[in-house]
Amino acid sequence: MNGERPRLSVIGTGYLGATHAVCMVELGYDVIGLDVDETKIARLRAGEIPFYEPGLPELLTKHIDSGRLRFTTSYEEVAEFGDVHFVCVGTPQRKGELAADMTYVEAAFSSLAAHLTRKALVVGKSTVPAGTAARMERLMLRLAPCKDVELAWNPEFLREGFAVDDTLRPDRLVFGVHSEWAEQQIRAAFEPVIEAGTPVVVTDFATAELVKVAANSFLATKISFINAMAEVCEVTGADVTKLAEAIGHDARIGRRFLSAGLGFGGGCLPKDIRAFIARAGELGVDQAVAFLNEVDAINMRRRARTVDIGLDLVDGSYRGTHVAVLGAAFKPNSDDIRDSPALDVAASIGRRGGTVVIYDPQAMDNARREHPELTYVDSLTAAVSGADVIMLLTE
Ligand SMILES: NC(=O)c1ccc[n+]([C@@H]2O[C@H](COP(=O)([O-])OP(=O)(O)OC[C@H]3O[C@@H](n4cnc5c(N)ncnc54)[C@H](O)[C@@H]3O)[C@@H](O)[C@H]2O)c1
Repeated sequence: MNGERPRLSVIGTGYLGATHAVCMVELGYDVIGLDVDETKIARLRAGEIPFYEPGLPELLTKHIDSGRLRFTTSYEEVAEFGDVHFVCVGTPQRKGELAADMTYVEAAFSSLAAHLTRKALVVGKSTVPAGTAARMERLMLRLAPCKDVELAWNPEFLREGFAVDDTLRPDRLVFGVHSEWAEQQIRAAFEPVIEAGTPVVVTDFATAELVKVAANSFLATKISFINAMAEVCEVTGADVTKLAEAIGHDARIGRRFLSAGLGFGGGCLPKDIRAFIARAGELGVDQAVAFLNEVDAINMRRRARTVDIGLDLVDGSYRGTHVAVLGAAFKPNSDDIRDSPALDVAASIGRRGGTVVIYDPQAMDNARREHPELTYVDSLTAAVSGADVIMLLTE
């Protein structure tokens, strides 16, 4: 450690990593961010956040100017600089499978380990299947020239759209550690956050890994619960919004995450519950999380149901119709279109012969890249004028 505070590195500067790097500088640390994507690093160096997140561009500019934040593609430089390294690389769903693709996590740990010549703490932040931390620790100890390096797991709960505030003022910190030294180091890396009164839960590796997938499974279940109620309401003539309001007054239930709609999407919830199902299967406890298959199925049915509701409005065929889609991102205040319910519905209508015209205030470039077959316009007015159906598909 240099001086009082550890110097930090952040490996993988996507939605999570770029936010973490910038916010840790705001909290008073010296930080270096690394990514294998050279374009992303060039943009960050130039003071440009490669995605939309309110409040983050201003902080990036401020801290590039302060000289306490820099970006690199060199693992050697990162290993030389950092006392505590945060691994924030992606864990997307494997193509054609439920399980998470762990190749990025394995590559990041291996590349860093090869350059660790002095004692350091490597902290995993990515959302991973239980057992990953222990496996990464073995991998690191095999590859690192310094045999004293240690590992910790610190799951991240930030919400896109609120990422800056969630990072500066999280509602809890979870530290999966198995030595006093590791706990001291990670506490030092979050000192201002802990001093502000944030609850800290110290656990073993497996619990820290599971906290994240358990939390996301609970939230996904709550959303699918109200959407299942919406299905029943539709056939009984009941009003699901009133129903949610009424049951939400029960403090044990609560109103949040109880809004019926198009269901959840994004780069976390869908792939996290699927990876959990896959991992539970490997561990022989598939029955314990079998309900998550139903949570996923209810969620995916909302998309099909939305396409059908539109179909009723155009007399049974989308052919020759103009369908305006408002919102392409998976949620407001984001340009993230990963597993976006809105784009899924839009693409499905397009395949059925409708002319889909999309407007989104932030996510147009990402959406166009993923679905070039759809039409994009640069204003809400242009999207809706002459439309046969207008669909508001982002919450
Ligand atoms: N986005 C969120 O809101 C959020 C919240 C909590 C947890 N998470 C978890 O955080 C992790 C990252 O998610 P994200 O949304 O930031 O993903 P992302 O795809 O936006 O970012 C991942 C970054 O890692 C980089 N990368 C890949 N391989 C690398 C390597 N070997 N070395 C260095 N960099 C490498 C990629 O180039 C990319 O920039 C995932 O496990 C996700 O589940 C995300």
